[in-house]
Amino acid sequence: MRVIVVEDYAALSQKAASLTADQIRQNPRIVLGLATGSTPLGLYQEWVEMYKQGTLDFSRVRTFNLDEYVGLAPEHEQSYHTYMQQNLFSQVNLRPEHTHIPSAYQADLTQVCKEYDERIEAAGGIDIQILGIGANGHIGFNEPGTDPGIGTHIVQLAETTIQANSRFFARLEEVPGQAVTMGIRTIMKNSRQILLLAYGEEKAEAVRRMIHGDISANLPASYLQLHPSVTVIVEKKAAHLLDEIACGTADALTGR
Ligand code: PGA
Repeated sequence: MRVIVVEDYAALSQKAASLTADQIRQNPRIVLGLATGSTPLGLYQEWVEMYKQGTLDFSRVRTFNLDEYVGLAPEHEQSYHTYMQQNLFSQVNLRPEHTHIPSAYQADLTQVCKEYDERIEAAGGIDIQILGIGANGHIGFNEPGTDPGIGTHIVQLAETTIQANSRFFARLEEVPGQAVTMGIRTIMKNSRQILLLAYGEEKAEAVRRMIHGDISANLPASYLQLHPSVTVIVEKKAAHLLDEIACGTADALTGR
C-alpha cells in the first residue's frame, strides 16, 4: 500500500482528482468504480470543475458504483442513484448507459447481484476503484465478519453503520437495514488499482488497523493489504495513529 498523508480535506480531494484525472486522460475508455458517502464529494466536485473547464472528458468513461440501499426507489432523495445524479452524473458528460448502480428496488436481488458481477467482468474489470472506509473498517457495505470470498451480495447493515448514515435521513428508522454491495471478492479480483480516501478523527483507528493490523474479517479493509496496487490518501486527523514509516508521497497511480 502506498500512503499519502495530506493536510486537509481540500488537499485530499485535489490529490485524488489529479491522480485519477491523469489516468482518465490517458485512457478515455477507463472503467471507474465509484463510492458514495461524504468522503468522495470533494473529488467529484474537482472532476466537475475539470469537465467545465474543458480539461476532462467523460464521454467514453464507464462507471460501476459499489452499493445501493435495498428498498429505496432510485428517485428517493437518499438513494445512491440520486446521490450520483446530483453529485456527478448530471454535471458531466457521462452517458447514462455507461453508468451502473446495483438496482436494489423491487427486483430479484439474487439475480441483480449475479448480473452485476457479470457486467463488471464483461466491461473488462475496473481500472480504478474509489473506496471510502467506515469507522468499523467496512469497504462498500462489507461489514465486519463478511466472507471475503463472495461477490456482489445482499448485506445486513451493522448497527453502527445505520447510526452513522442516519445523519442523511430525517429519522433513524428510515435508514434501510439492508443493502446490495460489491463483495470483497468483487473488489479484490476485478480492480486493477484501488484508491482509498479517508478523513476525520473517527476513521483514525480503522485506517491504522487497515495498514498495520492483522488481515482479518474483523476489519474488512485489512484485506486490501493483499491487493498489489492500493493507494491510500489520508488526511492528517485520520492519519495520526499511523507509524511514521508508513507515510510517504506518491505522484501517480501505477498499474500492477
Ligand atoms: P463516509 O462513509 O464517506 O460518509 O464517511 C464512508 C463509508 O462508510 O464507507
